[in-house]
Amino acid sequence: MRTFAIAASVAALVLGLAGPASADPIIIKFSHVVATDTPKGKASEKFKELAEKYTGGKVKVEVYPNSTLYKDKEELEALQLGSVQMLAPSNSKFGPLGIREFEVFDLPYILPDLKTLRKVTEGPLGARLLKLLEPKGITGLAYWDNGFKQMSANKKLVTPADYQGLKFRIQSSRVLQAQFKALGSLPQVMAFSEVYQALQTGVVDGQENTWSNIYTQKMHEVQKYITETNHGYIGYVVIVNKKFWDGLPADIRDQLSKAMKEATDFNNAQSQKENDDALAEIKKSGKSEIIKLTPEQDEAMRKAMEPVYKDAASRVGQPLIDEFQKEAK
Ligand code: LMR
Repeated sequence: MRTFAIAASVAALVLGLAGPASADPIIIKFSHVVATDTPKGKASEKFKELAEKYTGGKVKVEVYPNSTLYKDKEELEALQLGSVQMLAPSNSKFGPLGIREFEVFDLPYILPDLKTLRKVTEGPLGARLLKLLEPKGITGLAYWDNGFKQMSANKKLVTPADYQGLKFRIQSSRVLQAQFKALGSLPQVMAFSEVYQALQTGVVDGQENTWSNIYTQKMHEVQKYITETNHGYIGYVVIVNKKFWDGLPADIRDQLSKAMKEATDFNNAQSQKENDDALAEIKKSGKSEIIKLTPEQDEAMRKAMEPVYKDAASRVGQPLIDEFQKEAK
């Protein structure tokens, strides 16, 4: 018997089976579509650092930036299947899952600034929206900012009439579709990873995005003009596979929640700077002319996009829009 036990441990050692199985770290694959040098890219790295520290190495976070694992739509499917555990898609990308409510964040000019945004994401509406994810097997953990969107094209975009007939790449949001239709443009849903090439080859004429996304994807190198419209917002919902999250030991889940809270504070404190720095770099590159609108031109853009609210009421619901606007006051 003793000989057998010794032989078994020797065999286990040789086969590398020795040691408690619990020593294997829990792996969190965190996939996203933007560059590392962006608000989301940096915050996901911060989460990795804190998660590994607070769990004493029991959790290992593998961050996959720049759509290296999956593109927009695929990454949501991968999360539901459990092929990745964590993502941070923008509010505009939940429609294909059958959840349209996050598209309320896409309404043009609904948020005057990030301070106002915080009132919504940290209020009861923000919490209720996260709950909508649960029946889809997803747990919402946090809201991360990126910033405000600008319009770009190879044509000067100053008045609403300038948008007429141009093809614009959009994220998969019906509100964004309505926005470009209101301007007389032709919106085209496309994965983020394909935008640069589509702009370069003329598959689309223009796009809307934040300064940090425009700069890190080099869109300014293939767009002659960028108009500083700040007309819409891009922010993220950090999500995990619900079964994975609920199945974690409680102490680990608490440590990860603490790491997420701090990574969120980190993100929301630096997102504005990331976008300001990206704008400065674009200006320095001289590759794209930055157009500023006069108050009258800005007003004309707001007016042209007003019909989007009516259109959105039938998609996300008027009560939700009202509640959002009330919380944003
Ligand atoms: C986009 O698709 O334009 C953005 O949502 C990308 C991102 O994650 O910021």
